[in-house]
Amino acid sequence: MIVGVPKEMYPKERRVALVPAVIPNLKKAGLEVVIEQGAGLAAGYPDTEYVDKGARVIGSRAELFQAAEIIVQFLAHGANDKTGAADLPLMRKGQIVLGFLRPLGSVKTLQELAERGVAAFSVELMPRTTRAQSMDALSSMATICGYKAVVLAADTLPRMFPMLTTAAGTIAPARVFIIGAGVAGLQAIATARRLGAVASAYDMRPAAKEQVQSLGGRFVELPIEAKDAQDARGYGKAQDETFYQRQRELLGKTVAESDVVITAAVIPGKKSPVLVTKEMVEKMAPGSVIIDLAAERGGNCELTKPDETVVEHNVTIIGEFNLAGTVPYHASSLYARNVSAFLQHLVKEGQVRMDTSDEIIRETLVTQNGEVVNARVREFFGLPALAVKV
Ligand SMILES: NC(=O)c1ccc[n+]([C@@H]2O[C@H](COP(=O)([O-])OP(=O)(O)OC[C@H]3O[C@@H](n4cnc5c(N)ncnc54)[C@H](O)[C@@H]3O)[C@@H](O)[C@H]2O)c1
Repeated sequence: MIVGVPKEMYPKERRVALVPAVIPNLKKAGLEVVIEQGAGLAAGYPDTEYVDKGARVIGSRAELFQAAEIIVQFLAHGANDKTGAADLPLMRKGQIVLGFLRPLGSVKTLQELAERGVAAFSVELMPRTTRAQSMDALSSMATICGYKAVVLAADTLPRMFPMLTTAAGTIAPARVFIIGAGVAGLQAIATARRLGAVASAYDMRPAAKEQVQSLGGRFVELPIEAKDAQDARGYGKAQDETFYQRQRELLGKTVAESDVVITAAVIPGKKSPVLVTKEMVEKMAPGSVIIDLAAERGGNCELTKPDETVVEHNVTIIGEFNLAGTVPYHASSLYARNVSAFLQHLVKEGQVRMDTSDEIIRETLVTQNGEVVNARVREFFGLPALAVKV
């Protein structure tokens, strides 16, 4: 069975879906790897390293798609909304495609994949179970985003992060406030602390308090309680506008007192709630920095401009979309481990096991035999449930 790794085609994308280190394990599972020439170079993995680990390099993308039974990508059609469609004609019936598909983005792109007859698996739909933890690409990317957000903030802020006592006086530590203490938010706390800042965080999920504190952060408690803050998969649940309004009122003081605010409050498939308003930004000290990790989904800050950096009221607001992509070496290495764990789960003794009684396979499989088959995705887009085959 051949796994093909095409070069990523999204403009400026530097990551690659498999790195040389995972190839020996895939070989043990009966999987050969072919890689498009130069696919790993921008992430720091030259072709020679893949060849040393036993992969084959192919010069033409069309030939790679032809040779491989399984195609693994970072941003596949759907998540790559700029150039991803160019791969559709290269796909063939029965082929497996694995990658970020943005399954709750557009039903059209999923139907286009279905029409090609491919079995497309979305890494975004990985269940949040202990068994699937090693395959959880969202957590891998969130970890990198949280880290990079802090590094970027430290670079942008006209202050230092740590407290310093010098002959020329004492420097107070930077105050970093994180809204949304999921995987990205927690990594941001850890990184801000490592750089010597005073870190605090808020999340509407009560379970987040202990996690924030265990990383040495202060948990900001607000006197409001979210209804069903968490869904069965551990994701935050959307709240009503009255709740968000109250949050904004209560968050104002902490935001105004912070040098850096990192917002990471996202709700899967929904527009992100606005938690930092224009008025709140106006009250921040000149030179403060906001990193909006929810920018791709509309942003948590009212003044965020999608995929741009703007300065408003002397506050720098960074709404860059692909922060994980700016650390391509480790983003690729973590993703490759997630993908490789998934492939070893899917392929047993050289055969693909399309066993939909298995939760991991059922929940991530989006298209098969010409249909969008995923129950959650169908429900999200209001498609009628598929008849169960007996
Ligand atoms: N395999 C596993 O068991 C597994 C894997 C990944 C994450 N998790 C857990 O799932 C939880 C969510 O993590 P995530 O990174 O997916 O989160 P996420 O990226 O979906 O969301 C970010 C955070 O924002 C919070 N949020 C959303 N709206 C908010 C609002 N209005 N106000 C304040 N906070 C708001 C959410 O509660 C969440 O913690 C964490 O506890 C994480 O540890 C478990």
